[in-house]
Amino acid sequence: MLRLTVVFGLLATAYAQYGQNATLDNYIAAQYNISLAGAIQNIGGMNNSIVGDGPSPGAVLASPSTVNPNYFYTWTRDSALTYLMITDELIFGTEKVGNNSLQVAAEYYTAAQAFLQTVTNPSGTFWPAGEGLGEPKFYSNLTRFNDAWGRPQNDGPAFRATTFMEIAEAIYQRNPNAPRLVAQYYWPLILADLNYVGQYWNTSSYDPWEEVNGNSFFSTTAQYRALISGSVWAERLNQTCKPCEQAPEIACFLKNNFWNETGNYLLANINANQVNRSQIGTDPLLGSIHAFDINATCDATSMQPCNSRVLATHKVVVDSFRNLYPINDNATAPSAVAVGRYPEDTYYGGNPWYITTLVCAEVLYDAAAQFRKNGTITVDNTSLAFFQDIYPDAKVGNYSDSATLANYTNAMIKYADGFVQVVEKYTPANGTLNEQINKTTGEPTSAIALTWSFAAFVTAAERRAGKYPPSWGATSDYASNVTSNCSASSYNATYSYVPAYADLAPNISMPLCMKEVLFICNYSTKPGTNIYIVGDNELLGGSLSLDPPIEVLRPGNITADYPWWNTPVWFNASTTVEYKWVLQNQTAMTFAYENMTRTVDVGQCDGEVQRVLDSPAFPSPN
Ligand SMILES: *[C@@H]1O[C@H](CO)[C@@H](O)[C@H](O)[C@H]1NC(C)=O
Ligand SMILES: *[C@@H]1O[C@H](CO)[C@@H](O)[C@H](O)[C@H]1NC(C)=O
Ligand SMILES: *[C@@H]1O[C@H](CO)[C@@H](O)[C@H](O)[C@H]1NC(C)=O
Ligand SMILES: *[C@@H]1O[C@H](CO)[C@@H](O)[C@H](O)[C@H]1NC(C)=O
Ligand SMILES: *[C@@H]1O[C@H](CO)[C@@H](O)[C@H](O)[C@H]1NC(C)=O
Ligand SMILES: *[C@@H]1O[C@H](CO)[C@@H](O)[C@H](O)[C@H]1NC(C)=O
Ligand SMILES: *[C@@H]1O[C@H](CO)[C@@H](O)[C@H](O)[C@H]1NC(C)=O
Ligand SMILES: *[C@@H]1O[C@H](CO)[C@@H](O)[C@H](O)[C@H]1NC(C)=O
Ligand SMILES: *[C@@H]1O[C@H](CO)[C@@H](O)[C@H](O)[C@H]1NC(C)=O
Ligand SMILES: *[C@@H]1O[C@H](CO)[C@@H](O)[C@H](O)[C@H]1NC(C)=O
Ligand SMILES: *[C@@H]1O[C@H](CO)[C@@H](O)[C@H](O)[C@H]1NC(C)=O
Ligand SMILES: *[C@@H]1O[C@H](CO)[C@@H](O)[C@H](O)[C@H]1NC(C)=O
Repeated sequence: MLRLTVVFGLLATAYAQYGQNATLDNYIAAQYNISLAGAIQNIGGMNNSIVGDGPSPGAVLASPSTVNPNYFYTWTRDSALTYLMITDELIFGTEKVGNNSLQVAAEYYTAAQAFLQTVTNPSGTFWPAGEGLGEPKFYSNLTRFNDAWGRPQNDGPAFRATTFMEIAEAIYQRNPNAPRLVAQYYWPLILADLNYVGQYWNTSSYDPWEEVNGNSFFSTTAQYRALISGSVWAERLNQTCKPCEQAPEIACFLKNNFWNETGNYLLANINANQVNRSQIGTDPLLGSIHAFDINATCDATSMQPCNSRVLATHKVVVDSFRNLYPINDNATAPSAVAVGRYPEDTYYGGNPWYITTLVCAEVLYDAAAQFRKNGTITVDNTSLAFFQDIYPDAKVGNYSDSATLANYTNAMIKYADGFVQVVEKYTPANGTLNEQINKTTGEPTSAIALTWSFAAFVTAAERRAGKYPPSWGATSDYASNVTSNCSASSYNATYSYVPAYADLAPNISMPLCMKEVLFICNYSTKPGTNIYIVGDNELLGGSLSLDPPIEVLRPGNITADYPWWNTPVWFNASTTVEYKWVLQNQTAMTFAYENMTRTVDVGQCDGEVQRVLDSPAFPSPN
């Protein structure tokens, strides 16, 4: 395994917390410590207290919970967001948590993710077209997870690239050999994920809650940030980043497609396979905090916390929960309340979450800081209703005098503190943060000790304390480029995916001549049923009778009742593959295998996609 011990030097500064309410400050300081330790506890190699088969070094468990729900897996997104937090802690000067060095944690993450990038999984392979990078989750021992799932999830590679660039930043700040080391070890890892982003940003995928297939504001902001940072890093390392040239198109897409003018909010998802949702949700706020750059201007790409659209969304989202959860007691603004993912949520009965309540605080700490840094606060027709809730004298205008600026931003911080106090109210004495808060009783519920809940507390506490991550390029020349007429572009990176370093990557062969076969199944399914494929080729599980089957298809051109299930698979050219379709009834957990065996003659590697369209008849499931 690669050891980066030489990369990091020592840098020690004390962690400091300050604010306006000493009681709240004390609570936050204590909960910060518990939360950082709680996140580290859930990482393989960093502690021995997790019973059963522990996670591999660097694998971030979503939660140690194994039943109701089983979260004993590692998700690419959650892992990257956790490590973005951990890396920022390193940059802020936090060296150790308990006996564990954060530097070692970063080394583990690097090795684990370098490996995972290349693991063949139900989303596809690494070589040659990178589709496997979009796989959302793996077993915590870094092996593929084969069950039906909302896949791919295109935010994962974007956040992972961003996290690698943050680790590179930490290295730069500590080590004089950084440019050579970063170029050699980190750039290939970063570029693999950026290639994926450039190639697939324009395709639909699942949202961060793994339910909606479409284009998510959260994922799209993550993709934009990754590509802009990629341009900045490429310049720093004398490299080129071809996929990064997609960024102006993503900026255009973000600016023009997600704003609901009538409702005055950013839509959580567009082009979605859901018709019964308002698309009011906290995920645009989560997208915003992960795109936060203290140096950015508020009008940049409609995604910074101080942007009027984001603040307007804050109001619409919070208001949607005021009368929805009994524990909120129909409280009106400026009272903060417990906030969930989106109002139509039914998961575990539909409850507030710690993450989504904390984001309502963090986005306001960020926005207030940006206004103060700029020296001006702008109130416009879009943000007026938000400001009037918390500052009744608010009027449309630009305010630069220090007294008015202080009045507005103090009101924002006080409101933000209210959301932290809601979290405090519903946190048990030992500080454990679950996933959810029971909307009726206020008891913690769903998964225990959720890593993302802990990470969300740490980042909110740091922003409140005035600690901001390094600028990621939001003010760079690259970010000033926004295409004015959006087009459905993409960067074709097929054959450009290169594993990071040979001694770490598994022994995958890279035949130069492969053929993409698109298996399409013309069969109408109901919700709760899935289509699989099995075959004698290893990529299809290696056996026609494999039970359970492993290659699950995803719905393609989705309509309400007639999805075309499909999956692309890259085979060696000019080979023959035998396969069968399998129908799964997820509710009854039964599989029905076709009686007949099908054969496909895989063609030459001529660059054309070979389409195989079948209309199977399934026997009754047994
Ligand atoms: C200060 O914070 C504590 C703990 O969150 C809270 O109970 C109290 O009401 C706050 N005081 C003020 C003046 O906001
Ligand atoms: C990885 O973990 C899964 C789930 O616990 C288990 O089924 C599998 O056997 C493990 N694989 C290896 C190689 O340890
Ligand atoms: C990039 O090129 C410049 C000019 O040739 C050189 O000074 C710098 O060290 C190079 N940086 C890296 C990371 O190779
Ligand atoms: C936009 O908001 C309006 C008003 O709340 C709502 O009726 C409409 O359905 C929303 N549009 C979309 C695309 O969700
Ligand atoms: C709170 O609001 C809900 C929905 O608008 C309403 O049904 C309920 O009666 C209200 N409760 C109280 C105590 O006002
Ligand atoms: C929340 O509490 C209520 C009342 O005790 C209970 O009926 C419900 O099942 C709880 N919900 C969850 C998700 O635990
Ligand atoms: C302040 O914000 C405005 C509007 O976003 C921007 O035009 C201006 O350049 C910013 N000024 C500073 C000093 O950041
Ligand atoms: C700021 O708020 C205080 C208290 O509400 C008020 O007295 C003062 O006039 C405000 N200052 C400005 C410049 O609005
Ligand atoms: C923390 O307290 C909760 C609620 O009392 C409990 O369920 C949980 O097991 C405790 N966690 C630890 C680590 O002690
Ligand atoms: C913001 O920009 C200033 C220079 O204008 C720079 O010194 C500072 O480091 C930047 N902040 C961050 C967080 O990068
Ligand atoms: C801006 O984007 C356009 C279109 O993608 C591209 O042709 C141009 O080179 C970009 N300019 C800069 C300065 O990045
Ligand atoms: C992408 O490039 C590969 C390799 O050149 C080619 O085989 C494939 O057809 C291209 N895909 C698209 C969608 O253009």
